[in-house]
Amino acid sequence: MIQEKHLSTHDDFATQMGTEFVTKVYRFLKGTAIYDRNNVIIDQYAQGCLQTINSAIKSEGNLSFKIVSNNCFLNNAKIQIRADNYPIFKGLMNELKKRWIGEIEFSGEIKKEDLKEFIFLLAGLPENNESNYLYANQQLELRNLPDIHVEKLESFKDEEIYFDSEDQKKRCKEFYFKSISLVKEVMENVKNQKLVNIRKAKRFMQNAVNLIAQDDSILLGLANIKNYDEYTFNHSVNVAIYAIAIGQRIGIPKRHLFQLGMAGLFHDIGKMRISKEILNKTEKLDPEEWEVMRTHPIVGSEIVMKMKEWGDLSTRMIIGAFEHHLKYDLSGYPRMIRKRPLSLFGRIIAIADFYDALGRPRVYHQFPYVSEKILMLMMERSGKDFDPLLVKVFINMVGIFPLGALVLLNTNEMGIVVQTQEEGEFIDRPKVNLLVQQDGQYLKGKVVDLTEKDEATSQYKLEIVKTLDPNEYGINITEYLI
Ligand SMILES: [Fe+2]
Ligand SMILES: [Fe+2]
Repeated sequence: MIQEKHLSTHDDFATQMGTEFVTKVYRFLKGTAIYDRNNVIIDQYAQGCLQTINSAIKSEGNLSFKIVSNNCFLNNAKIQIRADNYPIFKGLMNELKKRWIGEIEFSGEIKKEDLKEFIFLLAGLPENNESNYLYANQQLELRNLPDIHVEKLESFKDEEIYFDSEDQKKRCKEFYFKSISLVKEVMENVKNQKLVNIRKAKRFMQNAVNLIAQDDSILLGLANIKNYDEYTFNHSVNVAIYAIAIGQRIGIPKRHLFQLGMAGLFHDIGKMRISKEILNKTEKLDPEEWEVMRTHPIVGSEIVMKMKEWGDLSTRMIIGAFEHHLKYDLSGYPRMIRKRPLSLFGRIIAIADFYDALGRPRVYHQFPYVSEKILMLMMERSGKDFDPLLVKVFINMVGIFPLGALVLLNTNEMGIVVQTQEEGEFIDRPKVNLLVQQDGQYLKGKVVDLTEKDEATSQYKLEIVKTLDPNEYGINITEYLI
């Protein structure tokens, strides 16, 4: 419960109470899909929500929660969303937006049963129906709940709502593969000292930022597909995607996300001056080869510095190229004589780079690491190689089993992760599309939710045993994900 004496301003109140409200309502709403109304867990969720709502009503007289664009307001004061709470806020906003509900208002103290009635009513509203609010208010009146009221979602563009429509998927996919060829073109021009079409690259990045701002799950899923043939280009695009997605979660404004994306896209541009023999060597590099390899951050920043076409972008891009192997405690390379802490962009790109590079089978190590192993390494090196706060944000973002991961369940079934959970406590329990083997091929089966419990034993029905390498099974993840 929130103690009012600790709160200095109305905005602090909105942020604390709002965060509590969103967390509890979201959990309750999600719970309705798993448990029935009389389940004891639902009772606990309702009790938790009720405390928050009624304590707000006691001190303020009412509680209104409102969504405007991507911001949330509690009693008309903006709620400041902290990075670690972002997935929950986004989760609740999505649930409400899908149903065209933009505001919920409680105008008097309410009882537990009334709240249950309301949340189940909300959960049962169909998606994409603009007049849901009319129906909901009518029902609230009929059920004698005059202190609860909802409003229609305002000022909302269509494309923001139907974010996971087929159309959006198609756009993302097109964008993704086009940007690989774009990076290839730019890098090859750099290599051959030809003119580089910067405007095209900039336009692409603007697009990426917009796509990720709407919903990052599709592009993050695509980034998980490692295309082995075009290592450097594919890697560059992935690093940009991961970097923008991290940046967005910690509240970097769009204008800067664009710069971050560009810095991510060209962080390895220095590799264009390293011979193919070293770049593509599958065995371990010898000391001299390592020496050459380690020049790429400096070479990269020199390349960027010389390119006048980048304009004011170049400072950011120099940072990306120069800092991405330096490490958080500056123990990496290039060696620095005057130690200066890493910039935020450098810290973000280092994480994106490490995660993507280790998920690949080539170059320094023969077998790719599965995602959970990489995340474990990141946690171990948190504070040394990586910024600890950003590591947390990143793990929350990709989930332990990221989109597109091929997993083995305890039922001996195989499946592909198609949706990660928004809530931290279910980070290891994504939704999985089962694969059914037929005539030597794997076909899409049903989608299972790993948060589902057995009613009788209250044990989880399914568990992930381990991650599998799709190449070993001849499975092309792209086909299943899109
Ligand atoms: Fe690099
Ligand atoms: Fe890299």
